[in-house]
Amino acid sequence: MSKQVELGNSGLFVNPVGLGTNAVGGHNLYPNLDEQTGKDLVLTAIDQGMNFLDTAFIYGPERSEELVGEVVKASGRRQEVVIATKGAHKPEVGRRAYDNSPSFLRSQVEASLKRLQTDYIDLYYIHYPDEHTPKDEAVGALKELKDEGKIRAIGVSNFSPDQLKEANKDGYVDVFQGEYNLLNRSAEQDFFLYATEHGISFVPYFPLAAGLLAGKYTPDTTFDDLRKDKPDFQGAAFRENLKKVERLRPIAEAKGAEVAHVVLAWYLTRNAIDAIIPGAKKPSQVADNLKTLDVRLTEEEINEIDRLFS
Ligand SMILES: NC(=O)c1ccc[n+]([C@@H]2O[C@H](COP(=O)([O-])OP(=O)(O)OC[C@H]3O[C@@H](n4cnc5c(N)ncnc54)[C@H](OP(=O)(O)O)[C@@H]3O)[C@@H](O)[C@H]2O)c1
Repeated sequence: MSKQVELGNSGLFVNPVGLGTNAVGGHNLYPNLDEQTGKDLVLTAIDQGMNFLDTAFIYGPERSEELVGEVVKASGRRQEVVIATKGAHKPEVGRRAYDNSPSFLRSQVEASLKRLQTDYIDLYYIHYPDEHTPKDEAVGALKELKDEGKIRAIGVSNFSPDQLKEANKDGYVDVFQGEYNLLNRSAEQDFFLYATEHGISFVPYFPLAAGLLAGKYTPDTTFDDLRKDKPDFQGAAFRENLKKVERLRPIAEAKGAEVAHVVLAWYLTRNAIDAIIPGAKKPSQVADNLKTLDVRLTEEEINEIDRLFS
């Protein structure tokens, strides 16, 4: 088994390379993944020792949690797996309406427990901030759920730096999840120092920039999901991104690795980051992402990548 790392000071230990499951069950960004492939991704992850699974109410919606729960239960290895899930979206009013009130979060945790077919959630995140609830009160509700044994660690996601500070007033936050990758490094200024000073693990989402940083697309690659409408995947911006990614190829080739492994390994050299959750759409990608753990970057390479993407 590979080295396990602790998420914040939570007492939860995971393989540093986990699996993001927003494609499992069909996400709005990746609507074309069939359910059996989704389940195969999760099973491959568990079989290969990738024990950190990241899901959310809104993935599917509901379906990702249900499929993850089904596979974990059938594997008989619930105790070896750290399941992270998230809530805040109000189911009845569309994707962009959030509620962080204590009663809503409690009802969401109960509903996630059922979908995941488990009696505890290892890590529960408030997925997005709402406009009204004081953030320490929202996290206080999660602390009560933790004391009751329904969740084991507390996370927040997509909060501003000030909202994170407010959420962590009592020091209860174990993990922060935010967008971060080599093409978008603003989290370094916004969150990394606070996270390391307060024993919070920063878990980056979109670590491969939705595939852009995997080093396999060409200017002719086309997309049949929502990426076709994202500015980063269009025209001159897409070509420019691909050029930037090509700068990593000599480093990867010199190590006999793929660009994706070098990118993912570089994140694990950041102080604030203990674990990563790249997504996948094929079981082979899950297995492939674990090769990240074989990549050792020298100090020189770490600094070079920093410079290339500064
Ligand atoms: N908290 C939040 O609000 C939030 C938001 C977004 C995501 N997330 C979490 O973060 C996770 C990761 O984000 P993501 O899955 O959207 O994007 P990502 O990890 O940046 O990119 C995943 C995509 O990269 C490609 N890929 C993955 N491994 C590869 C490999 N070894 N070789 C080549 N290509 C590979 C696949 O796309 P193709 O096969 O199509 O090329 C895959 O779907 C999500 O699953 C979710 O759990 C959280």
